[in-house]
Amino acid sequence: MTHRGPDAPTVLVTGAADGIGLAMVQTLLARRAATRIYASTRKLARAAALQELARSDARVRLLECDLTQPSQLQSALACVAAAGSLDHVINTAGVLHDEQGMRPERRLADVDPQAMLRAFSTNAMAALLLAQAAEPLLRKSKRPLFASLSARVGSIGDNRLGGWYSYRASKAALNMLLKTLSIEWSRGAQPITCVALHPGTVRTGLSAPFVKGSGDARVFSPAESANCLLDVLDSLTPAHTGNFYAWDGQPVPW
Ligand SMILES: NC(=O)c1ccc[n+]([C@@H]2O[C@H](COP(=O)([O-])OP(=O)(O)OC[C@H]3O[C@@H](n4cnc5c(N)ncnc54)[C@H](OP(=O)(O)O)[C@@H]3O)[C@@H](O)[C@H]2O)c1
Repeated sequence: MTHRGPDAPTVLVTGAADGIGLAMVQTLLARRAATRIYASTRKLARAAALQELARSDARVRLLECDLTQPSQLQSALACVAAAGSLDHVINTAGVLHDEQGMRPERRLADVDPQAMLRAFSTNAMAALLLAQAAEPLLRKSKRPLFASLSARVGSIGDNRLGGWYSYRASKAALNMLLKTLSIEWSRGAQPITCVALHPGTVRTGLSAPFVKGSGDARVFSPAESANCLLDVLDSLTPAHTGNFYAWDGQPVPW
């Protein structure tokens, strides 16, 4: 799906200040797999590493945007449109726990409606609002791609352990939104490829409370995960639209 060098696509990466999103930006730059990267975060002032990348590499353009806010999305995508084209969107925004008390639930009694709404808002709705705002630009691309990071725990078919009601259900909702979107986007003269991705278990702020010390070889660094995910995206054709792939390219059951 992607080309390297001067033919490389323009890419929007969300959640780019940290974790897998930041590693995506760094890896795209190192691979020369993007001619321009629009990197978005909710708070640029907190995004020191991303600011440094933008200072050192002219391919990086920074955007400040809360993906749950349609007006902010419209402004961010208007900045992209004013600067040129957009070929790929890689959405890494997601939440498992937050400063307002969201925690993955162990049991039914732990479910908190406000935390659950925040999980659905960021993990599911935001991806669709992002797709809505990016659609006009993606429609103009010759190789449009929309990829959103989901999670294997959002697979209904793969749920053997239970728990984590809000995160699981919000990622399952994301999966349904992406599948539905892929059907709409497969119609028409210029189909847009749309996939869900599972990045593996990755050492980031999101996973930190649940991942033990650094010795576990099954836990990826953000760079390892980003490299694998970009290999998967490289291998996609429009025929792969509407699927859910893990970091190793294997399909994940919905
Ligand atoms: N780490 C894992 O083991 C793992 C496993 C399976 C799936 N995932 C998924 O992979 C994705 C990346 O996670 P990560 O591990 O890299 O975690 P992370 O470092 O916490 O990154 C998540 C990013 O989401 C952004 N975000 C949250 N709410 C947002 C909003 N309303 N608008 C815009 N951005 C928002 C945050 O960006 P700002 O605060 O800068 O705005 C944050 O940088 C998530 O979707 C996660 O569910 C991760």
